[in-house]
Amino acid sequence: MKPGDKIKVFAPATVANVACGFDVLGFAIDAPGDELILEITKEQGVVIEDIQGDGGVLPRDPKKNSCSVAIQDYLDYTSASFGCKIWLNKLMPCGSGLGSSAASAVAGVYAINLLSGNKLSKQEMLPFLLNAEKAACGSAIADNVAASLYGGFILVRSYEPLDILQISVPDDLWCAVIHPEIVILTKDAREILPKEITLKDSLRQSANLGGLMIGLLRSDYDLIGRSLVDYIAEPHRSKLIPGFLEIKDAAIRAGALGGSISGSGPSVFALCKGENIAVRVGDAMKEVMDKRNIVSQVYVSKVNSQGPRVLDLDRSNA
Ligand code: HSE
Repeated sequence: MKPGDKIKVFAPATVANVACGFDVLGFAIDAPGDELILEITKEQGVVIEDIQGDGGVLPRDPKKNSCSVAIQDYLDYTSASFGCKIWLNKLMPCGSGLGSSAASAVAGVYAINLLSGNKLSKQEMLPFLLNAEKAACGSAIADNVAASLYGGFILVRSYEPLDILQISVPDDLWCAVIHPEIVILTKDAREILPKEITLKDSLRQSANLGGLMIGLLRSDYDLIGRSLVDYIAEPHRSKLIPGFLEIKDAAIRAGALGGSISGSGPSVFALCKGENIAVRVGDAMKEVMDKRNIVSQVYVSKVNSQGPRVLDLDRSNA
């Protein structure tokens, strides 16, 4: 690795919570996501050269941006004698419930780790990503970062110590996500949640979480659908999303197995059996937003099994 070495990477967006797994479940999707160019410099520290696609809302201060915070942690941990410059291209909306800050942080540590000769494992990089989430949204939650970093469907079995489990998913499981163009900050969406839940809700939530895991492992699509119920966050957060119940109804009527809020919202996801149904479900959800004159984007994707990937690598001759 030399100054001037440059890499371009992509890190995927994610759907966190997945209805019954508040703060502990997440999966990556093929699109949207973040692109990042990272170049090694002789000078230490992280310099943000440019951020595109965020409408100017993300912090340009490297101490506050989730991508640079994660990279700096990596450089400190590995006692690096060099630094880097970064160019971030947000190909996804911020404050959307699609793990935008997580995708930026994952792109950053994935890129610096590759140029550093893959010094650290994914498990070792996770703490930097959690710090970055804390900087971006006030809470060190692993669901989005772990899903984007590992790819696939993940369960955060434990936070202390961190124990991330990857869950296999049925071949024909597709997801339709609608992003209505309103912004909900994760910090705000967490503040409206009650600090405690009833024993009854806790039992119902954990029963559905178990049901979803078994449904995924057995490719039992009906069980997956029956298990996509959220007793913790959806009852409170759905009030922040105009037309939420209509969107969900439209998705089910168009053939979705079930769905809920993606992460802290406002995006709404629906899991479906097969691409054709997922496309139909995406259209049905969009129709609801169109009728309410709310601009929205729909993403239809399989669960992304790869996680971040290299788009271009340029080793310097310096
Ligand atoms: N699980 C988080 C939440 C999403 O719903 O607040 C952000 O990681």
